[in-house]
Amino acid sequence: MLTILLPFLLLQGCNGVIYKFNSSAYYHMPALYSLDEYERCLSDAGGTFCLIDLDLFSDQPSELMRYIHEYSADTKKHFNHTQIHRGVCVTQSCSFLNYSVWDLNTTLEACVNDTIWRNYKVQARLNNINYCYNADDRGGLDTSDLAVIIIYMILIAVNVVGSLYDVLFCHPSSKSGNPYVLSFSLRRNWAKLVSPAGIGPDPRLERLKSFQGLRALTMACVIFSHVALAMGHSYLRNPDFIEKSLEDPSKQILLNGNLVTHTFFVMSAFLLAYNFQ
Ligand SMILES: *[C@@H]1O[C@H](CO)[C@@H](O)[C@H](O)[C@H]1NC(C)=O
Ligand SMILES: *[C@@H]1O[C@H](CO)[C@@H](O)[C@H](O)[C@H]1NC(C)=O
Ligand SMILES: *[C@@H]1O[C@H](CO)[C@@H](O)[C@H](O)[C@H]1NC(C)=O
Ligand SMILES: *[C@@H]1O[C@H](CO)[C@@H](O)[C@H](O)[C@H]1NC(C)=O
Ligand SMILES: *[C@@H]1O[C@H](CO)[C@@H](O)[C@H](O)[C@H]1NC(C)=O
Repeated sequence: MLTILLPFLLLQGCNGVIYKFNSSAYYHMPALYSLDEYERCLSDAGGTFCLIDLDLFSDQPSELMRYIHEYSADTKKHFNHTQIHRGVCVTQSCSFLNYSVWDLNTTLEACVNDTIWRNYKVQARLNNINYCYNADDRGGLDTSDLAVIIIYMILIAVNVVGSLYDVLFCHPSSKSGNPYVLSFSLRRNWAKLVSPAGIGPDPRLERLKSFQGLRALTMACVIFSHVALAMGHSYLRNPDFIEKSLEDPSKQILLNGNLVTHTFFVMSAFLLAYNFQ
């Protein structure tokens, strides 16, 4: 089986796909992301800031365009550099164009295309406008803001109710009272949070201490890798760092972090089941 597959696996490496990072060629491509200053843009009266995606193309045969296509074809490790992402302050960066006469789409395309054309001799076509914010209709709360406020208010309210119920009607060490309401009591949750692990009526809890320790360490790893993951999906100044990190053995531990998540779930489930026994 392997002898049949091997030629295909080897052939895949030379099929018009660039797998290797080459810094001199890489920095000749237009930047994948670029953002104008948002606050400064909207500080002007009538300032308009748009977040847009553009597709790069070329009418004539272009060495750069060929490189961009072949580099982007390695979809597992590389971003798609044929589509660039820009945050454009229309009123400042595109002031050389006739913004008031043209519609916004035409202005945005002409504006970015002009910069790209002058520096790289390839063209940019507007693909998508993610949003445009205007200085005049800024402010105010939208639906998602209200939803977050309501959810936080509900959480604060149930905590207040649970804590008052606990303080007024229940004794700290007794097991009486409605357990659902008490699960929101600040006093009880704080006591649980700061109580040392492995101390309790069950002597076997002592042996599970190392589990709790491992779980705490794993939790730090999970938070760390999710922060890194979120950064990898934002508007990066240096996307090459993410692309190169996939070839760096020391970062493989982060990239294969979902294995750690599995052990974390198994450990947590075990401790939970043990507590309910
Ligand atoms: C990197 O790319 C440039 C331009 O395409 C080329 O001249 C150079 O030989 C390449 N370097 C490596 C190490 O492949
Ligand atoms: C890159 O994005 C463009 C535009 O969205 C798309 O047409 C193209 O297929 C993508 N290329 C790859 C390799 O995914
Ligand atoms: C902008 O449009 C106005 C009105 O159509 C015209 O008079 C002016 O020459 C245009 N300016 C540029 C730079 O195209
Ligand atoms: C981009 O700009 C160049 C030079 O001004 C022009 O020839 C080309 O038609 C423009 N392309 C688009 C898609 O606007
Ligand atoms: C501007 O572009 C958006 C999509 O990017 C499209 O839905 C809209 O119809 C366009 N407007 C004009 C006036 O071309």
